[in-house]
Amino acid sequence: MGAVSHLTLIIVLLAVSSSVVHSCPPSDRAALLAFKSALREPYLGIFNTWTGSDCCRNWYGVSCDPETHRVADINLRGESEDPIFQRAHRTGFMTGCISPAICKLTRLSSLTIADWKGITGEIPRCVTRLPFLRIIDLIGNQLSGTIPADIGRLHRLTVLNIADNSISGTIPGSLANLSSLMHLDLRNNKISGPIPGNFGNLNMLSRALLSGNRLSGLIPSSISRIYRLADLDLSLNQLSGYIPASLGKMAVLATLNLDSNKLSGVVPTSLFSSTIGNLNLSKNSLEGRIPDVFGPRSYFTVLDLSYNNLKGPIPKSILGASYIGHLDLSHNHLCGKIPAGSPFNHLEASSFTYNDCLCGKPLKAC
Ligand SMILES: *[C@@H]1O[C@H](CO)[C@@H](O)[C@H](O)[C@H]1NC(C)=O
Ligand SMILES: *[C@@H]1O[C@H](CO)[C@@H](O)[C@H](O)[C@H]1NC(C)=O
Repeated sequence: MGAVSHLTLIIVLLAVSSSVVHSCPPSDRAALLAFKSALREPYLGIFNTWTGSDCCRNWYGVSCDPETHRVADINLRGESEDPIFQRAHRTGFMTGCISPAICKLTRLSSLTIADWKGITGEIPRCVTRLPFLRIIDLIGNQLSGTIPADIGRLHRLTVLNIADNSISGTIPGSLANLSSLMHLDLRNNKISGPIPGNFGNLNMLSRALLSGNRLSGLIPSSISRIYRLADLDLSLNQLSGYIPASLGKMAVLATLNLDSNKLSGVVPTSLFSSTIGNLNLSKNSLEGRIPDVFGPRSYFTVLDLSYNNLKGPIPKSILGASYIGHLDLSHNHLCGKIPAGSPFNHLEASSFTYNDCLCGKPLKAC
């Protein structure tokens, strides 16, 4: 057979197979329609596309497994470059709630209902019985209630993002059983209580963003066992106790934000000769001196130690740091001459103000 007849055969086969192609199962379609009926999206009309018997075809934000024709992804983002948004000249807005009917989509792999601003109600408890779920992304709504206690059953879950909602309650102990979790974002909710001591079991985790909650208690030192963790943000909580020194020994930790908590004790020496390049410890009750351990391995785009109770001088070794982009040592009890040298030349007075008796450039002469 020549190439042309090959092509003809393929076209014929495609035509035949598409006439017998399965549409989505009626039960998946019914589940989607129940999900849709609990929501109101007045401006864009995305649900106007949810008509016809085949929910795998041209239903906005729905996609199916090509083999099983089961619904695999719900991907509804209220902030998007999609033409539907450009035509409307606005971002999305939805009210209503997330119907538990979605739990009948038993092959669901991703559930993204993000940035719709007005969706209220709880995260349906039953999502923890969707064994194929890999992504839960519900950022930017007004969801309330708690994180399902048995969330740890979702052993394929790689992304859990419920940031920017009104979720309350505590972090369930079972969360640490999410053995595939890579990205955890709980920022800006009302979550209280401690970070579970077994948090360090999340050994696939690379980003843990818990800032802007009401978390209290200690920073579990088990966190430093998470080999892949690159980004740890616990800022704007009520965490207390010491900063575990082991955080400075982590293999790839690049960002450590512990600012605006109630941490006390000294700043661990290990943090200044580590992989951390973005360190914010501002607004705590840290005391003692700034460790005199800077060296060529110290490379900081941000080093913010402001609003603590640090005393003593700025250590001379800081001149040996390979880079310090943004430095803030203001609002402490530091004293003595500001070291003069290259990492410091670009800094302004505001980096050093409100201390007991710092002097020299860029402050007044000693
Ligand atoms: C975590 O998983 C283990 C093993 O599957 C189980 O025994 C344990 O009860 C789970 N922990 C929680 C808090 O759910
Ligand atoms: C560090 O944290 C403080 C307090 O939360 C915040 O105001 C400041 O902007 C942060 N610093 C940088 C450089 O982001």
